[in-house]
Amino acid sequence: MCGIVGYVGPQACADILVDGLRRLEYRGYDSAGLAVFDGKRTGVVRAVGKLQNLVTALKEKPLPGSLGIGHTRWATHGRPTEVNAHPHCSGEIALVHNGIIENHIELKRHLAEEGVKFASDTDTEIVAHLIHREAKTGDDLLGAVRRALGHVHGAYAVAVMDARQPDRIVVAKNASPLVIGFGEGEMFCASDIPAILPYTKRMLPLEEGEIGVLTESGLELYTLDGKRVDRQPKTITWSASQAEKGGFKHFMLKEINEQPRAIEDTIRGRVDLAAGDVIESELGIDAETAKSLKRVYFIACGTSHHATLYGRFLMEHIAKVPSQTELASEFIGRDPVVGEGDLVVAVSQSGETLDTLAALKVAKEKGARILAVANVIDSAIPRAAHGAFYTHAGPEIGVASTKCFTTQLAAMVLLAVFLGRRRGTLEKERAQEILQNFVEIPNQMRTVLALDDIIRDLARPLAQAKSALFLGRGVSYPIAVEGALKLKEISYIHAEGYAAGEMKHGPIALIDADMPVIAVMPDDKAYEKIASNVQEAKAREGHVLAVATRHNADIGGIAHNAIYVPKVDPVLSPFVTALPLQLLSYFVADFKGTDVDQPRNLAKTVTVE
Ligand code: AGP
Repeated sequence: MCGIVGYVGPQACADILVDGLRRLEYRGYDSAGLAVFDGKRTGVVRAVGKLQNLVTALKEKPLPGSLGIGHTRWATHGRPTEVNAHPHCSGEIALVHNGIIENHIELKRHLAEEGVKFASDTDTEIVAHLIHREAKTGDDLLGAVRRALGHVHGAYAVAVMDARQPDRIVVAKNASPLVIGFGEGEMFCASDIPAILPYTKRMLPLEEGEIGVLTESGLELYTLDGKRVDRQPKTITWSASQAEKGGFKHFMLKEINEQPRAIEDTIRGRVDLAAGDVIESELGIDAETAKSLKRVYFIACGTSHHATLYGRFLMEHIAKVPSQTELASEFIGRDPVVGEGDLVVAVSQSGETLDTLAALKVAKEKGARILAVANVIDSAIPRAAHGAFYTHAGPEIGVASTKCFTTQLAAMVLLAVFLGRRRGTLEKERAQEILQNFVEIPNQMRTVLALDDIIRDLARPLAQAKSALFLGRGVSYPIAVEGALKLKEISYIHAEGYAAGEMKHGPIALIDADMPVIAVMPDDKAYEKIASNVQEAKAREGHVLAVATRHNADIGGIAHNAIYVPKVDPVLSPFVTALPLQLLSYFVADFKGTDVDQPRNLAKTVTVE
């Protein structure tokens, strides 16, 4: 997501800020900007696109001064334009922000009633105005930021300057990362360690609910409720490239571990637990349209297609609307019967996949309503759609999709509940139950990620395999096919994902002692049936690894090995069963020494047919 850099000290800081932003480029961004205090006032320069555009703009309008903040923006609220780029200003206040303000609509309404005029479409600008309002009471910047944040719900890391107090930057963190760097007579802040690693190795990551004041002489740190915090910086020994990957060996492993946070960000501000409903203004589907839907068509490719298989399951189970999934390339190759009354959901992490875009255009021409689910704001697919639902996975660098996949699954849940409530097929009580269980899912995912050592041990023998079979039924079928895709993409081991019930119609012929079988079999109504399929594989000497629910005690008699996931609402089990398979593929590939982040022949964005 966005990148923040801040500097206070004796040096001219514009170059330091741009250099820091460059080191955060891996986080992805679509615009960038700086605010620097020049001794009299704060100057701001912003530019859309690559950092080079900001550098060019800075040549025309240099920003001298030694107190400044910088930002790379990954658009979430408002298009990637210069006015939406950070820093955002209100009076003497300049602010950069990473995160999502959940209650931005309500806050904006209050501020508008007070006469505030908005220059951008962002949630961030609201925080600048809130701080400006609080700072008018004459208190210091720390107090103003603290009071303003008291009105804010959501995720934020902020760095704030006030031209009336030009010796300080106030920083605060809740759910978005921010690290403080301690130099000699100078202080830094940044979204991530690599940004400031060339300047100092002494760092202190802020913890949840902390707020601090950076001046040349150091950091004063408090909790948001005003208690003084005394923590010392640590010395970072990572290299710059290790730091970029957060200390993980590969981006893919980092991204696998980011999934609980990515799901939280995708859910944030979209769920009303009390009403048992999904709040979504971007979908472009009103209650009448939801009620009169004839059919939902999902179009996507690769991993995104696998997410739509789960979407189909939920659509039938929750929203009770006939649904089908289509590989985008096949959809355009036929003469699909689609049109008015149909909702076509085009799912794509990049938002640029050519086949998906082409399929979307075919469906649009035939009169269907188009909804895009994408991770990149304002990319081609959401632009071509009638409505867009953005996943908030943040940029995914590993070519093999992991966090984008599970945030797509999250989008499927939100969409199904949204439609189910409007179509009257989902009772409020059951919706409340699903949504309550859903907001608890990120923590359940954390417990699965903690199984990494066990999964690494199970991956070692799999690295010798020539081929592997992944089985799943019902809600676990999409996870089996995605598990197989992950393994083949990054380890180059041939793998098939199959509906377990289909095994006896062909693939069973392949099973022998050299064929590992990975069965996705959480505790749900398909359990008994898939257990029988697994017994059939075992009877033919297939070596079975089960991904099962902890309390399924009989699994020991069914599978050779098991990875136990926590028991969750059966409709949400893909969130906990997908992770072991991602880790399994990752460790197999790492044992084999393949290029995990850039597998051969693959591209992150596929813009050819
Ligand atoms: C995922 O691991 C793959 N790299 C690939 O299948 C990908 O999901 C597919 O190309 C679709 O991409 P999109 O989500 O950007 O449309």
